[in-house]
Amino acid sequence: MKPVRLAILGLGTVGGGALKLLQENAAEIKRRTGRDIQITHVGTRRPRPELELNGIKQSADLLDIVRQPDVDIVVEVIGGIHPALEILQEAMKHGKQIVTANKALLAEHGNELFKAAEDNNVQIAYEAAVAGGIPIIKVMREGLAANRIDWLAGIINGTGNFILTEMRDKGRTFEDVLKEAQELGYAEADPTFDVEGIDAAHKLTMLASIAFGIPLQFDKVYTEGISKVTAQDVKYAEELGYRIKHLGIARRAEQGIELRVHPTLIPEDALIANVNGVKNAVLVQSNALGPTLYYGAGAGAGPTASAVVADIIDIVRDISYTEDGAGTVPQLAFEALTDLPILAHNEMTTSYYIRLNVVEQTGVLAEITSILSHAGISIDAIMQQPRKKDLIPVVILTHPVVEAKMEEALQQIQALTAIRGEIVRIRLEALDK
Ligand code: HSE
Repeated sequence: MKPVRLAILGLGTVGGGALKLLQENAAEIKRRTGRDIQITHVGTRRPRPELELNGIKQSADLLDIVRQPDVDIVVEVIGGIHPALEILQEAMKHGKQIVTANKALLAEHGNELFKAAEDNNVQIAYEAAVAGGIPIIKVMREGLAANRIDWLAGIINGTGNFILTEMRDKGRTFEDVLKEAQELGYAEADPTFDVEGIDAAHKLTMLASIAFGIPLQFDKVYTEGISKVTAQDVKYAEELGYRIKHLGIARRAEQGIELRVHPTLIPEDALIANVNGVKNAVLVQSNALGPTLYYGAGAGAGPTASAVVADIIDIVRDISYTEDGAGTVPQLAFEALTDLPILAHNEMTTSYYIRLNVVEQTGVLAEITSILSHAGISIDAIMQQPRKKDLIPVVILTHPVVEAKMEEALQQIQALTAIRGEIVRIRLEALDK
């Protein structure tokens, strides 16, 4: 059989990693596919003298590359929305199969791109877009296909998890760890995407879509970053038996779907609470199998290249063994998508960690607990810390409550005369059902 021909657009961390992996494992990959894979083009502006590019055409004109006849698969790893969107549309018009690691593009424009793929009878493979090297797309689309998925919770941004871990374990500063994550090639071009939860929201959008069979709806994800997590809250959470992790959560609730990304207290003995550094993990609750946890490297050249090359191999097999090469697994896991309502953040239900500073005043704790009890909010634990200067930190853990009720109660508590400063509120998940 003739070789399958590839164009790799972008030779940064991911593109360079994929090229190296294809070269290094060429013999093993050929044993898997029965066919050679030939890189015919790379699209790049930056010379990378350390890469082996002999015999590969190089150009910075990406639109021109995707129109070339000696390209079967376009691997888009330039990232960002523009010009990646226009380039992929052009590539599909020319009948090219697509492999992409571009989560922002798919989360924000996936509905139109997947439609274009169907219209042009090609596929868009995107394993590398979510959770780095963990094959979570394959797991959810194929391995769990018999199940109804109830919820999933994931640590899906390696940079953010690396920062939280290093701050907690080594007492390093936020800025210092972020700089290292950038040097290691983990962080996004704009690292606020990592620390403000936007990257995780992109990935959650895709996971939710393939979990529940719903269209991609990035604009409906409630998103909070990690930049406000303090060492004090990390310490108090630990005293109560919890770790703070930045989670993306998608859950089927009675009234609709919850889509949220935020710092979350989780029990320290949960496996996922012990996922540290740049590692990612996705916990999936499905009705026949129960909970399963998928763990591995969430960022970096090798792990992301592992996912990109696995997608290339899948497409090479489809091109070789099916009539049209368009693949047989629905791109978003379901042949029929359903437009389930996505809940607004104040309609979502979760438990809370509340930290407030009070001044010494008889009856203040009674006032606080009375407000909570009138709002129907049940307290799970309460901890008064030793006085710091004139202030007494109080930490309260609640049972699950609809967010709107909690908002109202917090406003009333904030207005009490004994309260000083802003009340801190972090969501808490038991992750047990
Ligand atoms: N910036 C991303 C992360 C890269 O840190 O997880 C992998 O998508």
